[in-house]
Amino acid sequence: EMTPELRRALLAWYDAERRELPWRGTRDPYRVLLSEVLLQQTRVDQALPYYRCFLARFPTVEALAAAGEEEVLEVWQGAGYYARARRLRQLALRVAREGWPQNREGLLELPGVGPYTAAAVASIAFGEPVAAVDGNVRRVLARVHAEPDPKPAWLERVAGAWLEPARPGDWNQALMELGARVCTPRSPNCAACPLAGLCRARAAPERYPAPKKRRA
Ligand code: ADE
Repeated sequence: EMTPELRRALLAWYDAERRELPWRGTRDPYRVLLSEVLLQQTRVDQALPYYRCFLARFPTVEALAAAGEEEVLEVWQGAGYYARARRLRQLALRVAREGWPQNREGLLELPGVGPYTAAAVASIAFGEPVAAVDGNVRRVLARVHAEPDPKPAWLERVAGAWLEPARPGDWNQALMELGARVCTPRSPNCAACPLAGLCRARAAPERYPAPKKRRA
């Protein structure tokens, strides 16, 4: 069970151990969204230079909306998945016209924004109490509950029950960071984990979630 003590322990771990990333010092939805789109396709260290270049060239959503597609794709070069850059530009055109939506539901209507991205931006930029479950969070939740096969409905329920409503953006990022740095797929560092006392997979963390069976 996620108690107030464990909530505090995870947030304290995040406050002490988190990497100071440029998108962590802002609640600008444009910056937060850009970071989430880049992080869907690359690791943090690989995403950083693209984040900086992109923002240097297109510092605001209005600047991005005013740019031509070729110019945007040129800056995106090497970051992968050009379709994402095209949709990001489409999003900018819409936001420049209509303004930012104010919640997850509204974000979901924007080009290229799926459930994960909408929840991440809503919680980090708007402080909306919604859970954002990426692959790292999925692994953490599966292990703590010793759930070999975490299904989407289960993840939504458990992540929602765990969420710290006072700091939803930090809470989501704390779980992501824990999954990326401590509760790793191979050789997790359980000795450093603030949730170890709660974790039902402690004896055999690598068994959760169960690896997909290979087909013959
Ligand atoms: N992966 C995707 N978004 C992230 C974030 N905001 N912090 C850490 N890892 C992430």
